[in-house]
Amino acid sequence: MTEQASHTPRVFSGVQPTGNLHLGNYLGAIRKFVTLQHEMASMFCIVDLHAITVWQDPKALKAQTGEIAAAYLAAGIDPERAIIFHQSAVPQHAELAWIFQCVARMGWLNRMTQFKDKAGKDKERASVGLFTYPTLMAADILAYKATHVPVGEDQKQHLELARDIAGKFNLDFGAEDFFPLPEPLIRGAGARVMSLRDGTAKMSKSDPSDNSRITLTDDADAIAKKIKKAKSDPEVLPSEEAGLEGRPEAANLVGIYAALSQKSMDDVLFEFGGQGFGAFKPALAELAVEKLAPISAEMRRLMDDPAHIDRVLKDGARRAGAIAEGVLADTKKIVGFLGR
Ligand code: AMP
Ligand code: TRP
Repeated sequence: MTEQASHTPRVFSGVQPTGNLHLGNYLGAIRKFVTLQHEMASMFCIVDLHAITVWQDPKALKAQTGEIAAAYLAAGIDPERAIIFHQSAVPQHAELAWIFQCVARMGWLNRMTQFKDKAGKDKERASVGLFTYPTLMAADILAYKATHVPVGEDQKQHLELARDIAGKFNLDFGAEDFFPLPEPLIRGAGARVMSLRDGTAKMSKSDPSDNSRITLTDDADAIAKKIKKAKSDPEVLPSEEAGLEGRPEAANLVGIYAALSQKSMDDVLFEFGGQGFGAFKPALAELAVEKLAPISAEMRRLMDDPAHIDRVLKDGARRAGAIAEGVLADTKKIVGFLGR
C-alpha cells in the first residue's frame, strides 16, 4: 500500500470479449466491479486487443464486445459513475505496451503459466501477442495509473508482472513513484469458480462442454438443467468447510452457493450439513436462477439496443482517452522521446 500512497486511488479491470461469459466471470470479477464503483474512481474495459491473441471471427468479436458491455450494465455498473469502454478505442494501450515490452524481460514472460496453458504443446505456433499479453495488461492498468485491480485468482501472476514492470520502469528511468504498483483485489468468495464437470479445472469460456459452465445468457431452464447434471459425489454434505477436503465438486457447488448468497461456506453447511445433493442441487438451482435471471433478462434487452451500447462505449472511450493521453505524454518524456 505504501508505494502507492501518493497516487489517487483508481480501479481498473478488464474482461475479454471472447464469448460464453460465465458465472466465474461474474462472481470473480464483474460483481466486484459493481461494488467498487462506489468506493473509487473506476474503469471497466472490454479488452478486445487481448482477445485477438487467439483467433477471433471479426463478426463474432463485434457481437461479443457488445455482449460484455451489456453484461457490465446489466450487472449494475453505472456508466455515468464508472468509465466503460473498449480497449482498441484508446490507442495509448498499445503504445504503452510497446514501451513495456522493452522494460519486461524474456525470463519474466517465460514464467507465465497462462501462456503455457493457452499455447499448449505447440508453442512455436502460438501468436507472438499471446506471449507478450501480460505487457499489454500492465499497460491497460498503468495508462491510467490505476492502483487497484479486481480480478479472479487466475490473473494473480499477471498482476505481479504488472507490478514488476511498474517498479522496473520507475527504477530504470529514475522516475521514483511515477507509476503506482497496482494492488490486486482477489480475495473473497467466487475468486475461483470451478467447472461443473470437473471440480479440479476452472470454469472457462473455452471448455468444449457447455455443461461445464453457467453462462450469463442462460435462461432459468438451462441453469437448472446444468446444475442438475453437475458432477457431485454420493456423500452427504459435512457441517463444516473442513469436511469438504478431497471433495472438489462438492466444495465447488457449496462455494457457488456461498458466493451467490454472500454467506460463508460454514453458514451454508450449517444449513445443508447432513443433506445429500438430491436436496442441495435444487436449492442451488433456485438461488442461481433468482440471482442470475434478472441479469440475463436485462442483458438480452440491452443487446437489442446496440445504439445505446454504442453511446456508452463512445462516451467511455472519450473519457478514458483523455486520461491516458496525459499519462502517455509524461511517459514518453521520461523515456526520452522527442515531443511532436
Ligand atoms: P476473462 O474471461 O479471461 O477475460 O476473465 C475475466 C475476469 O473473470 C478475470 O478477472 C478473471 O480472473 C475472472 N475469471 C475468469 N474465470 C474465472 C473463474 N473460473 N472463477 C473466478 N474468476 C474467473
Ligand atoms: N487478462 C485478463 C483476463 O484474461 C483481462 C485483462 C486484460 C485485465 N487487461 C486487464 C484484467 C487489466 C485486469 C486489468 O481475464
